[in-house]
Amino acid sequence: MIYLKTPEEILLMQEAATLVSRTLGEVAKWVAPGVTTRKLDSIAREFMLDNGGRPSCLGYHGFPGTLCIEVNETIVHGFPSDYALRDGDIVGIDTVVELNGYNGDSAYTFPVGDVDPQTLQLLRDTKEALRLGIAEAKEGARLGNIGNAIQTFCEKRRYGVVREFTGHGIGREMHESPEVPNYGRRGTGPILKPGMVICIEPMINLGSKNIVIGPDGWTTRTKDRKPSAHYEHTLAILPGETRVLTTFDYIREALGDRFI
Ligand code: MF3
Ligand code: CO
Repeated sequence: MIYLKTPEEILLMQEAATLVSRTLGEVAKWVAPGVTTRKLDSIAREFMLDNGGRPSCLGYHGFPGTLCIEVNETIVHGFPSDYALRDGDIVGIDTVVELNGYNGDSAYTFPVGDVDPQTLQLLRDTKEALRLGIAEAKEGARLGNIGNAIQTFCEKRRYGVVREFTGHGIGREMHESPEVPNYGRRGTGPILKPGMVICIEPMINLGSKNIVIGPDGWTTRTKDRKPSAHYEHTLAILPGETRVLTTFDYIREALGDRFI
């Protein structure tokens, strides 16, 4: 069942989305060689709590962090740890905050120091795939158009499009109906209606689309150990308008000319 949100609820969701965006902006200030992912996790948790939010991932089905940490070949759902970021790494940071009873969800993949050109291009292309997916998310359109736009763009560039994890509806719950795949056919799937709030989150691999889930039951890596990128926005379908509720502007501010 897809819950349609009222305009009042969407205003509350905007606040949660802004808080998650500001949290990623805080974390961005700390991303550098030598910083542990556990440090990033505590920055995020404190920032959320200081601003009246609740870290939604922490304790979710036993997940042990505020942030999902995705270093290099990790696609999704990695744990914060004592691993210190190294020059040339990429690190995806995916997190959700609850504020006023509603969730905001966003992810961003950061280069750490000097990253090889092919991997940097993967980051740019995955961000562009997210933008193309968002452009298809309009009142009256079919949900499948979003995944089709992402898949077509990425497969043309010979990237692997992850199938096992998808975007999703969001609201009082961090994951609501519908699923929002990063692949699919135009003209298929539910019709997008005003009041739907969804997360689009392409997970795109430099190599093949195949994944391996680790022994912890969460940490998901590329089978070929090549890098993977992940960007995510929360957006609301409104009458004649789609409003992207999260923003990368705080990250842009934090990174200055390092923003790609
Ligand atoms: N954006 C992630 C997702 O939609 C957030 C997961 S939090 C976790 O899957 F607790 F499930 F890891
Ligand atoms: Co999500």
